[in-house]
Order: sequence, then structure tokens, then C-alpha cells
Amino acid sequence: MPADAPGREGPTPFARRILAAYIAVTALVLVLMMVLGVLMRLAQSEWLALDPALFYQSMTIHGVGMVGIAAVGGAAVMWYFLSHHVRLDARILLANLVLFLAGTVAILAAAFLGGFAGAWTFLFPLPASSGGAWESGAAATFLLGLLGIGVGFLLLFLDVARALIRDRGGLARALGWPQLFAGSIEPAPPPTVVASAMVTIVNIPALVAGAAIIVISLVNLIVPEFGVDALFAKNMTYFFGHTFVNATMYMTVIAVYEILPRHTGRPWKVNRVFLAAWTASTAMVLLVYPHHLMMDFVMPAWALAIGQVVSYLNGFPVLLVTGLGTLAIVHRSGIRWSATTTLMFIGMFGWMAGVIPAILDATIVVNRVMHNTMWVPGHFHFYMLLGLVPMLVAFMYHFTGLERGAPEGGAAPDRWAIGVFLFAGLGFVVTFLQSGRDGVPRRWAQHLPEWLLQDRIAAALSLLVLAAGAVMLLRVLRGALRGGAAWSAEA
Ligand code: HEM
Repeated sequence: MPADAPGREGPTPFARRILAAYIAVTALVLVLMMVLGVLMRLAQSEWLALDPALFYQSMTIHGVGMVGIAAVGGAAVMWYFLSHHVRLDARILLANLVLFLAGTVAILAAAFLGGFAGAWTFLFPLPASSGGAWESGAAATFLLGLLGIGVGFLLLFLDVARALIRDRGGLARALGWPQLFAGSIEPAPPPTVVASAMVTIVNIPALVAGAAIIVISLVNLIVPEFGVDALFAKNMTYFFGHTFVNATMYMTVIAVYEILPRHTGRPWKVNRVFLAAWTASTAMVLLVYPHHLMMDFVMPAWALAIGQVVSYLNGFPVLLVTGLGTLAIVHRSGIRWSATTTLMFIGMFGWMAGVIPAILDATIVVNRVMHNTMWVPGHFHFYMLLGLVPMLVAFMYHFTGLERGAPEGGAAPDRWAIGVFLFAGLGFVVTFLQSGRDGVPRRWAQHLPEWLLQDRIAAALSLLVLAAGAVMLLRVLRGALRGGAAWSAEA
């Protein structure tokens, strides 16, 4: 891949090895978290007897694990491609992975040894009010683990910010503001630089807010008289959680901008519409989180109105420029439909389609009825499972070299796995949505007999999703562990 300037030729061999470790960890954790998801679905269908306490511990680990690993995978995509444009510090990349792994050990111990089951949202004052389900030590271990992971990501984004300021002349320049607002005729920044600037701008305040509320919750565990307004705490938590999860998608989509052009022989064009879309989304991602608080009637009405209006607009700019850009770049390009390119397309479809039920849920009158139902896992599994995961796997195929040497249309196991993943995945998320439409509550370990048919359909489909996902991800894991030609050369 051509570098922008000398000294920015992409990852060094040391950084490539760390990135291979990121990919191996992402592949392994995705499979393990899918196993937990299947176990929860089997338990809700009454095909598996799972102690409710264990269900909620598993739900906590599945939620935090999936969000965390989406961020690790997304960070690998961003770092790998961005390192061709700016000088990044591989030691910080490594520090983030080490902190992630250490935090993961703490979180697993808190849940499965200490019994912590306060969900990945750890909503204040729940960590300290378990009703006897867990001790405060378990809650503290969970929060400390999460804090360590957050600090790792904060270091990573501070390094990205430093590199963008030093090598691209600042964050505004990296977003292409001179071209957008000042009529500059200099070449616009590459899409990877624009997306990385956006993610950095939104994630730094989000991570700081998250760390602050975690520390407040930790102090509250030790000194129960020390508290904070619960509504304020919820605002901070969702400002952190929503922004951080959203950013995983904006990091991962860099793979589309970078990999598709290599398969079509056409560059990804950055025009003023593209720049305007990313700038608009930068502002809106920061403003949209109140749509998580629509059931909190004490929230000021203006904040909820912002949440609703911005939810309608938030995803569209980047989604549209990326979706239309993808169609334009592929149309009559003679593209070869390999596993990588097919997965990219599925990812684009999952992202675009999954946003529709999300927008419905962000409508205040709908939200008041639907928000605590299965509709919500329905919409976010749609764009995470069928949007983010296929894009991540496509990147991993690219990086590990699995995309090379496969016969026309991809290797047979890939073709089968991709087909099963798409159709079983669609059925799986639609069943979640249908259950939500019928009013089945979310986050319930035990379901009523009337809900079991849908649960069982979803459980069977989830087994297929797991099998197909495991075929692809375990191949990636093997490729990343073997290293070899693919990732040590031009990945
Ligand atoms: C085989 C694939 C998967 C299965 C079977 C699965 C299953 C489940 C189930 C049963 C729940 C609990 C639903 C409820 O009753 O509220 C859940 C929640 C969740 N899942 Fe998944 N899931 C899968 C993949 C994913 C992926 C790929 C992501 C994100 C990258 C993800 C993120 C989450 C999150 C954040 C929660 C919310 C946990 C909470 O409510 O605290 N899942 N999943």
C-alpha cells in the first residue's frame, strides 16, 4: 500500500505481530462470546437448565465481552490502515492489548467467581445494591477491570490524536475542514484519516466520562454515604457506552474504504459530501445518547427531543456516503466475489438494514412501549452481528492472507459458512425483533410458555450462526497464530 510520506510505510514487523495478536484475540473472544449467547438462548427456550444467576452472569460477560472485542477488532482495523498515513506508537498498541487482557481476567473472575451480574451497563447504584447476589469485592473487581480496559483505549486514542495533530496538521485538518469550509484546493485527507479523526474526537470524552463514573461507583462501594445523582450517573454511563459502541462501527468501516478499492481497482473518492457527512456524524454521535433515557420521565424534555431528532439523522450521513460509495466503486468494476468482498457487502447490508429498527426504537412513543423488549437486542444484533462482524472477518481474511489463493468465489468452507451465517443470522435477528413486537421482555432468564416457540426457533438458528462463525473465525485464528507469509508481508 502506498504511504503518504517517508516514515509512514505502515506497521513495522513488531507492530504487525501485535496486530496479529489483536486479530487472534478478536477471533477467539468472538467465538467464546457467541457460545455464551447460544447458551442464553438455549436457556430461554428451556432446552438447557441454566441457573438464573448464571444466566445473568453470562449476560454480563456476553455484553461486556462483545462490546470490548468489537472495539479491539475495530482498533486493529483503524491502527493498521492509519499507520500508512501517520506515525503511531506500537508500544501503546501493545499496552492497550495487555490492559484489555488483564481487565478481561478481572471481569471474568468478578462474574464467574464473585457472582457479579450487574450487566455491562453497571448502572449506578446497582453495583453496590446487589440484594445479596454478589459481594462488593466482586463489583469492585468488575469495575477495576473495566477501568483498566478504558485506560488502555484512552491511551490508544490519545496517541492517535497526537499523531494526527503532528503529521496531519490537527484534528480539523484531518476531518478535511479546510476543503469543506475554506475552499482549499489541496487534496482532501484519505478516508482512513477522516474516520480516525472522528472516532478520536468522540471517544476521548466518552472514555473520560466512563472512567469518571466508574471511579464514582468504586468510591460508592467503599463509602456508601458517597453518592451521585442517579440520573446524572445514567447520563454519563450512556454517553460513554453509546458513543464507545458506535465508534466500533466507525473504526471497522475503514476496512470498506481500504479493501474494496484493491478489489475493484478504483480509489475511494473523498469529496465534500463525504467530508460533510463525517463532520455531521462527529457532532451527532456526541449528542444522540439521550435516546437511551426516553423512559426516564424526569429527563428534561428538550434532551429527549434532541435524542429523538438526532437519532433520525445520526447514522444517515456516513451510512449513505458509504453505501452509495460502495455501489459506485463496485458497479461494472469486474470485481471478483471472494470471501472478503462478499463479507464486506453483507456487512454493509447488515449495517444499513439494522439501523431501521434502531431508528424506530429511538422514537419516543415507540420507545416507551418497546425499549425493554427483545426489539432492542433485535436491532443491535442486526448491525453488530450482520454488519460489524462480517466487516471485521473480511479485514481478518485480508490481513491473514486467507483471501489470497482461494479459488474463484472463495474456498468451499467459506462459501458455506458465509451463506449459513447470513441466512441463519437474519432469521436469528428477525426472531428477536418479532419477540419484541409481541412484547417479550429483554434480559429475562426465564420465559413464559407462550414465548417458547420463538425462543426455540432463535436457539436453533443461533447454533447455526455459531457453527458458521466458528468455521470462519477459527480459520482466521489459525492464520493469525501461524503468522507466516501473509501478515509479515504486504497484508
Ligand atoms: C451467535 C451470536 C449471538 C447470540 C446467540 C447472542 C445472544 C444474545 C442473547 C440471548 C442476549 C440476551 C438477550 C436478552 O434476553 O435481553 C444477548 C445480549 C447481548 N448481545 Fe448478543 N448474541 C450474539 C452475538 C452478539 C454480537 C456479535 C454482539 C456484538 C458485537 C452482541 C452483543 C450483545 C449485547 C451488547 C447484549 C446486551 C447484554 C445486556 O442486555 O446487558 N451479541 N445476546
